[in-house]
Amino acid sequence: MNSLRLLVSCVLISRCWSTEEPTFPPWFKFGVATAAYQVEGAWNVSDKGEGDWDRLFHVHPELKGHPNGDVACDSYHLWRRDIEMLEELGVDMYRFSISWPRLLPTGFPNHISQDGKNYYNNLIDGLVEKGIEPLITLYHFDMPQSLQDLGGWANPLIVNWFEDYARVVYTLFADRVKIFVTVNEPFIICELGYSKGHVPYHQDQDVGRFLCNKNTLLAHAKAWRLYDEEFRPLYHGKVSLSNLFIWFEPATPADKELTELALEHWEGRYGHPIYSKEGGWPLKIQKFLNDKAMKEGYPYPRMIPFTPEEIELVRGTYDFYGLNHYTTFLARRARPGEKIGRWPLYGSEELGMVMEGDPSWTTGEVDWFTMHPEGVRRQLHWLNDTYGVKEIIITENGYIKVDKQLNDWSRLKYTKDYLEQILLAINDGINVTGYTHWSLMDNFEWMVGYNVNFGLYSVDFKDPNRTRTPRESARYYSKVTRSRSVNHRHIGLNYV
Ligand SMILES: *[C@@H]1O[C@H](CO)[C@@H](O)[C@H](O)[C@H]1NC(C)=O
Ligand SMILES: *[C@@H]1O[C@H](CO)[C@@H](O)[C@H](O)[C@H]1NC(C)=O
Ligand SMILES: *[C@@H]1O[C@H](CO)[C@@H](O)[C@H](O)[C@H]1NC(C)=O
Ligand SMILES: *[C@@H]1O[C@H](CO)[C@@H](O)[C@H](O)[C@H]1NC(C)=O
Repeated sequence: MNSLRLLVSCVLISRCWSTEEPTFPPWFKFGVATAAYQVEGAWNVSDKGEGDWDRLFHVHPELKGHPNGDVACDSYHLWRRDIEMLEELGVDMYRFSISWPRLLPTGFPNHISQDGKNYYNNLIDGLVEKGIEPLITLYHFDMPQSLQDLGGWANPLIVNWFEDYARVVYTLFADRVKIFVTVNEPFIICELGYSKGHVPYHQDQDVGRFLCNKNTLLAHAKAWRLYDEEFRPLYHGKVSLSNLFIWFEPATPADKELTELALEHWEGRYGHPIYSKEGGWPLKIQKFLNDKAMKEGYPYPRMIPFTPEEIELVRGTYDFYGLNHYTTFLARRARPGEKIGRWPLYGSEELGMVMEGDPSWTTGEVDWFTMHPEGVRRQLHWLNDTYGVKEIIITENGYIKVDKQLNDWSRLKYTKDYLEQILLAINDGINVTGYTHWSLMDNFEWMVGYNVNFGLYSVDFKDPNRTRTPRESARYYSKVTRSRSVNHRHIGLNYV
């Protein structure tokens, strides 16, 4: 809508100016999110251990010359400026991750880095001093290389190693940090990691991917139970994991069953064992994939079975649903011989599924992004109806751009439209209690390096000082956090 039309409609419909516009409830927390490897830099300071991303970009011959996170936003040195930005934004909460190899250089708790510990203590104390609640992610994609050399997420012992690491983090920080995410997006770790789209940069769709699927869930469960038994009585905090959950809708009524399979493929394999009443793998996708493995001559089921004890270990290990939502797709059965496009990497090929936006939706600036804000509201209802979760925190939601302009109108609009739908869901009775926008600032976007951005603040990666500058979306978000309303009257008509 252009400004003039909006002005006219506002004059005609006086509710645009009414004081009774819907606002977020007082207990709803606004925040922003980042992750260690994407912002910290300082990859080799002090006694920090080598991480798997360090190794990938420094050593892998195929990736020679690929940009890396050696310096990134240099938040290791510039964290005071980061806190200043959080204050400018007026957020209640900051989600950041701990670098496992920075805190535990060997990967094990035999040696805790004093400098690593100081860095996170300074950041946490700085946030608390400003009244900003820290939310810690324990694992946001960076594994100590020492543990990756032993198989990483494919080695069942990772479950114990992760629990040991979690104990260190809780012991050091749980007195001041009340919300923890154990594992961020196990879907990406396993689905992309075992198709060379992420670390460990290994191609193994048949076995490695499913070892990872199971072990990430067991590791999460152990870390949740550790908190529940030993730390919750002292600190009364909350622990869950964050799932990437692209929302699907059937392209035609005939695609309804396929859509359910897609939801189980994307979300169920990483959510059902934890959030469902009965626990264990979701049955449709389990059967589908196990049949496939059998046809291919494997003597083992593709979805590695849980023992009854493991089902109970994992079931119910959550205090909220951590939702990373970016976009929605229509699911459609591929026509005979039709190419799946860029999505086979995420398993659509094995489902015989084409994922595409509806022609009426606004497309984003990259091909995996459509704007369909109503999708998040339906998805929030699905989470309530399917699992009966009592609390949801949206741990990521944000807009990818290719150009670096400060006038990022499309990101502003995306943020407004999605928050509006989240507020509608809250008013429907879905208990969404917080939102950490991805991302505070432009950062290192994994395999696409610095070629795209998600930042409310732009970062000048050519400047040794990594100067940060607020975009229009940052100005907008700072109005939202203070007014607790998404309405554009707070930002003037220029941006609508
Ligand atoms: C750390 O890595 C940088 C490259 O990112 C290099 O220039 C520097 O010499 C290294 N420092 C140490 C102490 O190894
Ligand atoms: C929403 O979640 C909060 C935090 O867990 C809880 O205190 C509150 O009772 C929940 N509200 C409803 C309606 O379930
Ligand atoms: C959430 O799910 C419960 C149980 O399935 C249902 O009774 C309730 O109406 C749902 N809430 C909303 C807002 O749909
Ligand atoms: C970088 O920061 C230093 C110290 O604050 C300052 O002296 C210098 O001018 C800055 N450089 C640039 C390019 O902004």
